[in-house]
This record gives sequence, structure tokens and C-alpha cells, in this order.
Amino acid sequence: MLRQRWLKFALLAAAAHAAVSFAARADTLEGSLADAYRTNPTLNAQRASVRATDENVPQALAGYRPRVAVTASGGQQSLSTTSKLTASELGSFFLLLVVAGNETTRTAISHGMLELTRRPDQRKLWADDFEQVSPTAVEEIVRWATPVIHFRRTATRDTIVGGQEIKAGEKVVMFYNSANRDERAFDDPYRFDLTRTPNEHVGFGAGGPHFCLGANLARREIKLMFEELLRRLPDIEITGEPDMLQSNFIHGIKRMPCAWHTVAS
Ligand code: HEM
Repeated sequence: MLRQRWLKFALLAAAAHAAVSFAARADTLEGSLADAYRTNPTLNAQRASVRATDENVPQALAGYRPRVAVTASGGQQSLSTTSKLTASELGSFFLLLVVAGNETTRTAISHGMLELTRRPDQRKLWADDFEQVSPTAVEEIVRWATPVIHFRRTATRDTIVGGQEIKAGEKVVMFYNSANRDERAFDDPYRFDLTRTPNEHVGFGAGGPHFCLGANLARREIKLMFEELLRRLPDIEITGEPDMLQSNFIHGIKRMPCAWHTVAS
């Protein structure tokens, strides 16, 4: 019998909510995430939770004894120092982990599921040889979905990027979704190809020290989610158009209908 469900690919939310209760003041993050907060009810709920627990942070951290060692080597200089994170910094970092690890992976998984429905040949290819295809499949899903649309940098010195002069202090926005469809970098970039090799996408960022901290966790989550989906609900498919998140920061899917006939034991 056909079973119809509204499936929200938000299975990471429970873990995220547990972590968010530990989060503290996030003033700086709120600035950069303002758009996501404005348009995403989940994030709004998380922010309310953060504010509600804000006053409890000093007690929550009472037993915390940080030891953060930072060592940087460059040129002829060598710098070594030890410093402590403040409660506010620690709380902000937890909030960063919660949001960065939640919105992104479910977005990738949702876009992946949608595209597997549209491309049954690719789905069969993966299901027939899951372990072999997984490494390239996961990278292609991240490229295809590009869950984070952009990040911004501030130039620390005058430079030229792609022929464009940039002065120190100017803001530069990196559109990952554009880079991930760049025909100079990808053969037939609008083709969803689970065996794409090479696949030097920038879905996790690139070219500097700010590469995604959770990239390997995300890869593992995406692989495990599809392993279980394809095993437990082998004929699951998306049955309607996705309801997209209105955001210029997260390429999110809020909800989309799906259906399946068979449930494996
Ligand atoms: C498919 C899933 C994910 C995608 C597409 C993604 C994407 C990104 C991108 C584009 C950046 C910015 C890199 C830059 O500044 O150039 C970033 C940074 C970051 N991500 Fe992820 N991410 C994902 C999953 C995760 C997970 C699961 C976590 C942790 C639980 C996480 C934690 C972080 C953190 C902490 C940063 C900031 C790193 C820094 O600025 O040094 N991410 N991510």
C-alpha cells in the first residue's frame, strides 16, 4: 500500500537541540546569520532557546577549566601562546557547531534525495555498489546541493582576484554555488554524476584556513543516511516539488513530499 508522508530531513535536530541548551551569547554570529534567522523558523527556535539559557551559562561553565594551546609558525617567526576561551566565546562556538552542523547536512541530504529521484540511473548505480560509489557520490551530493551559498572575507591587503582589483579593507563575497557550477572547473557541471572524478568542489570552502571543520563528519552523515534510506526504504522517492527556504545564505529545502511502498525489516 502506498504510504504518503511529509518527510522533513531534519534528523539531526534532536542532537542539535541538546547542544543548543549549552549555548550562550551569540551577538557576533547573529549579525552574519541575520538572514537565516529571519527566514528560517528552526533557527529562530534555536535562537530563542539560546536566549532562554543565556543566564544559566555561568553556572553551566562553573566546572570548566579550559586549556587551549595555540601555536603558529610562519617565516622566521615562531609564536606560541596559551589562552582561555571566555564563557561567551565557548557558547558562541557551540552555537556555530549547532547551526553549521545542522542546516548544512540536512540540506545536502534533501537535495541528494531529490536528485536521486530525478535520476533513477544514478540511484541504481549507487544502490548496486554502495561502498564503491559512496566516496564520489558524497562529494557530488555536496557539490550539487552546495548547502552554504556564500561566505564573506575582508581583504587584509591590496590584491587582484580574477582580474578584479581589491583594496585592503574591502569586502569580498565568495559564491560557492557559482564556483560549483563553473564549467572551467567541472566537465558538464549541470550533470549530476555520482562517479564524478575529479571533483574539486568548494562546498566545504577552500583555499585557506577556514575550511569546514565538520567536513569529514558531514561526509560520514551523508553516507550513513543514504545507506539506511536505500536499505530500509528501497523505493522511497520524492513525489512533489520542494518548498524552498527563502534565504541567500542556506540553499535549504524546508519540506517536500515523499512516498514509499516497501519497508525492509
Ligand atoms: C554538507 C555539510 C556541510 C557543508 C556543505 C559545510 C560547509 C561549510 C562552509 C562552506 C564553510 C565555510 C568555509 C570558509 O569559510 O571558507 C564551513 C565552515 C564551518 N563548518 Fe561546515 N559544512 C557542513 C557541515 C558541517 C558540520 C557537520 C559541522 C560541525 C558539526 C560544521 C562546522 C563548521 C565550522 C565550525 C565552520 C567554521 C570553520 C572556520 O571558520 O574555521 N560544518 N562549513
